Amino acid sequence: MILVVGATAHFGRQTVDSLVAAGHPVRALSRTPERAGLPAGVEVVQADLTRAETLGPALADVTAVFLVLPYGLDPAPFLDAARRAGVRRIVFLSSGAVVDGAEKQPDVIAAYHHGVEQAVKATGAEWTFLRIFFPAVNSLSFAMQLGGGDVVRAPYAGAAATVVHERDVADVAARVLTSGGHAGRVYEPTGPASLTQAEQVSALGAALGRDLSFEELDAGPVREQMGRFMDPDFVNALFDLMAATVGRDAPVNSVVEELTGHPARTYTQWAADHAADFS
Ligand SMILES: NC(=O)c1ccc[n+]([C@@H]2O[C@H](COP(=O)([O-])OP(=O)(O)OC[C@H]3O[C@@H](n4cnc5c(N)ncnc54)[C@H](OP(=O)(O)O)[C@@H]3O)[C@@H](O)[C@H]2O)c1
Repeated sequence: MILVVGATAHFGRQTVDSLVAAGHPVRALSRTPERAGLPAGVEVVQADLTRAETLGPALADVTAVFLVLPYGLDPAPFLDAARRAGVRRIVFLSSGAVVDGAEKQPDVIAAYHHGVEQAVKATGAEWTFLRIFFPAVNSLSFAMQLGGGDVVRAPYAGAAATVVHERDVADVAARVLTSGGHAGRVYEPTGPASLTQAEQVSALGAALGRDLSFEELDAGPVREQMGRFMDPDFVNALFDLMAATVGRDAPVNSVVEELTGHPARTYTQWAADHAADFS
């Protein structure tokens, strides 16, 4: 049995679909199974990562786990339970911000994901890390602005990313969960091209049949404003990571194709798949 944690959000949900399509038995963990809306045949179990007593039953007979955690959530109760349940393989959705071999991780995003990676290793299970960087789903943050006009106003128009489609991350995860040869490997699946934020908005406009544009804002006041309702260290880490990509192409690789047999989906495909989110 394969357990997907985070099964009702972007990456986990698509991984459930990929596993079901390939005919694998899947269990999905959710705090609210009645709202999960997952395909028939998926066993949805009620559990909470912060409540250790709910995790044993969710892990019964589980051999492999796809672990997607909301940023900042303590993985210890789940990983302790997974170790006790004898889970043999853990695939963790990590962050491209992690720096291997660094004495100190450069920011809180890298530090959190690096900490979870170390904790996964300490379970003794076979581990594989999928590190992603600015996935295409981050464009959903433009949706609210585009509900009221055709302009996205945000800092760092020139920040570049090889925006990966969550379905490709899911296809990679499904492959790694269900085949051998991935223990101790770190994969960084990317999309097929480096695109700046301004280019993403323009591609989004083409897919939606709208003439969209990007207006760059001064980052300082936006950081300050967002830091009032989100962890300021997280906001600064995110914006520093973006700032570091301005003026340089983000690296493209063939991990998706090598592991899934199909080319990475384009951002245009992603935009078409998500047109309803921008309507
Ligand atoms: N976006 C990026 O730029 C980026 C970059 C690199 C890595 N990542 C990784 O991707 C993650 C986000 O993935 P996502 O967007 O798919 O998920 P998400 O929206 O961050 O998390 C929501 C999911 O977590 C589950 N969840 C939350 N609290 C829970 C709890 N206490 N117990 C059990 N389940 C709980 C929810 O399930 P229920 O509500 O059904 O219980 C839901 O499935 C990040 O945290 C990061 O690790 C993201």
